[in-house]
Amino acid sequence: MNPIHSPQPFHIPLNRRRLLLSLALATAGFWTRGALAEMLTLTPRQTEGPFYPDHLPLDTDNDLIVVNDSLTPAVGEITYLSGRVLGPDGAPVRGATLEIWQCDNNGAYIHTHSFNAGKRDANFQGYGRFLTAGSGEYLFRTIKPVPYSGRCPHIHAKVRMNGAELLTTQLYIKGNPQNENDGVYHGIRDTKARDSVTVDFLPLPGAKTGELSAKWDIVLGTTPPDSDPHDRHEVTAERRGGGPGGDGLGGSRRPPPPPNGVDSSPRPPR
Ligand SMILES: [Fe+2]
Repeated sequence: MNPIHSPQPFHIPLNRRRLLLSLALATAGFWTRGALAEMLTLTPRQTEGPFYPDHLPLDTDNDLIVVNDSLTPAVGEITYLSGRVLGPDGAPVRGATLEIWQCDNNGAYIHTHSFNAGKRDANFQGYGRFLTAGSGEYLFRTIKPVPYSGRCPHIHAKVRMNGAELLTTQLYIKGNPQNENDGVYHGIRDTKARDSVTVDFLPLPGAKTGELSAKWDIVLGTTPPDSDPHDRHEVTAERRGGGPGGDGLGGSRRPPPPPNGVDSSPRPPR
């Protein structure tokens, strides 16, 4: 259930809902269109890499720390990742599905051919998605990314809308020394563009157990046509599945496959 906007029924424990709701309200109004207008940089495209999940987890909501109703959370530094999906003019994009995926604290992805697959943290969801409402806002609870073979820490992200992939990119930790030796990261030649995918992971104000906050606005290169999510098959199907889309927190049933399918063939690490 999307704590920001969705009227869908809840499928998660109340304490988790309250936690995410309170954060969502705290971040609401954090951005203003005027303030963004002067600093907008289009989010650069980056490789999808070889580890987009070749089998989606049963839970695909926006809380990657807890799988379904498990009582055991994932291992790692808990991070609230939030921001907005925007058009090139700073206008919020409604009805975009933002997916993220990343390796767990042991460097293992939800992928058959992942590094360290035998050490995967079964309590880490590894993948989540969120459907934006009118504000363009999104929210995930996940772990601070860790390095794995040959790569600096990063979180993969993909934006889909109306069945099309609009953007695939990656997010990095500002100040992480491993960024400097990462070929994919430095494949973004433009400094501003690189900075736009490099954010602080800072202590969450008021957090008592060390949670972090990372804020990242995603700016698309084109303005998608405005659409009413209720009119679109993709979202309707997702909502029927209790899943990803508008609720962001209710994905306890397997969603329909991504519109473009899943490429499970192994490729060089990225
Ligand atoms: Fe990766």
